[in-house]
Amino acid sequence: MDKLRITGGRPLNGEVTISGAKNAALPELCATLLTAESVTLTNVPRLRDVATMRLLLDNMGVQSETHGERGGMSFQAPDSLKPEAPYELVKTMRASVLVLGPLLARFGHAKVSLPGGCAIGSRPVDQHIKGLQAMGAEILVEHGYMVAQLPAGKTRLHGARIATDMITVTGTENFLMAAALAEGETLLENAAQEPEITDLAEMLIAMGAKIEGHGTSRIHIQGVDRLRGCTHQVVADRIEAGTFLCAVAATGGDVILRHARAEHLDAVIDKLHDAGAEIEAGDGFIRVRASGRLKAQSFRTTEYPGFPTDMQAQFMALNCIATGSSKVTETIFENRFMHVNELVRLGAKIQTDGKVAVVEGIDKLSGAIVMATDLRASASLVIAGLVAEGETIVDRIYHLDRGYDQMEAKLRGIGADIERIK
Ligand code: EPZ
Repeated sequence: MDKLRITGGRPLNGEVTISGAKNAALPELCATLLTAESVTLTNVPRLRDVATMRLLLDNMGVQSETHGERGGMSFQAPDSLKPEAPYELVKTMRASVLVLGPLLARFGHAKVSLPGGCAIGSRPVDQHIKGLQAMGAEILVEHGYMVAQLPAGKTRLHGARIATDMITVTGTENFLMAAALAEGETLLENAAQEPEITDLAEMLIAMGAKIEGHGTSRIHIQGVDRLRGCTHQVVADRIEAGTFLCAVAATGGDVILRHARAEHLDAVIDKLHDAGAEIEAGDGFIRVRASGRLKAQSFRTTEYPGFPTDMQAQFMALNCIATGSSKVTETIFENRFMHVNELVRLGAKIQTDGKVAVVEGIDKLSGAIVMATDLRASASLVIAGLVAEGETIVDRIYHLDRGYDQMEAKLRGIGADIERIK
């Protein structure tokens, strides 16, 4: 298993390019199932999860190829495709559930393994099932699989008004893709508003879908009979950008993030500004400058446009070495403090009680061997290692590789003393 060896204490200076967003690329790869025509995605990030999703599509019979320049990938989903997603692949990546909506919409039936839980929570998909059933799908859960089909005599899903019990990002994405080809109108009442939803909607519109209200909590879709191919550029990854902003804020330095979209990171940028970092944003870049200890910031994670749960672990690492104490409240997932025990191994002072963690800022962490448990926890440990005194070894960084495109190379490029140990 690969590890990262980090020697902390160095400021970060220079420029880094932010890759395409994992959480936009994954649903957008699934959207290629909605047409038999060729679909090209550009700015696709080189991530383990993207490779897994590509394998899943390939397994069904989707033809795909990569183009050399800037992460280009083309897909072609033939009519003869096998609409099944097996457990062996789905268990490694929960986002596989995103094939359910498009398969049902285009082929009228699908067999998709239940994803199972993951480190940060049980992650059920009951809302996905409820919404697709509202659109006319018959979905049985048996032997660990969701077996979905249309009622006898029906060849298409029909539009529906869907109000989920809670805001769900991939649920909203499944419904968007299913409704694009359904008969009639669909209204999503408490839709997720993340920028990745907006990006997916823009891709679907380029394919001929009729969608309004994406980016708000009410999305209206008018189903069409067929969708065509398109070329779509994957939006920049706001969580990768936020991760680098926190890293520079923690180590001190002056870095320009190319391709980053500040308007997708308001809540995080506000907190970094309050902490004492200087953030300057322009067309397609964010510049972050920091020096000395910042002021710890309390925050609670909520759905977009609130403070993102995917940035909670990274900002907590910053709070560990800031001045003062802070309270971090995780409202989205029930078990997203797995990084706390590892940060404590680096000397951090953190107490957790249910969904609240109280961090007491100290002036330095000391390097140690720590273990990554999930994607964003690993990013948090890398940030902590960049500021800890001495050497930190982060183990099990396959978690990091799932969602960050060449993280250590990018960090080395702005002055970090970091290397991968095979
Ligand atoms: C997406 O996961 C992201 N993944 C997650 O990013 C992100 O943390 C999460 O949204 C919240 O922003 C992708 O986009 C691939 P949810 P998702 O459905 O869609 C509950 C990362 O680090 N819920 O919005 O699975 C659920 O348990 C990953 O990049 C149900 O109960 O999250 C959670 O408590 C981690 N039943 C809450 O809703 C359902 O059917 C929000 O989950 C669906 C969700």
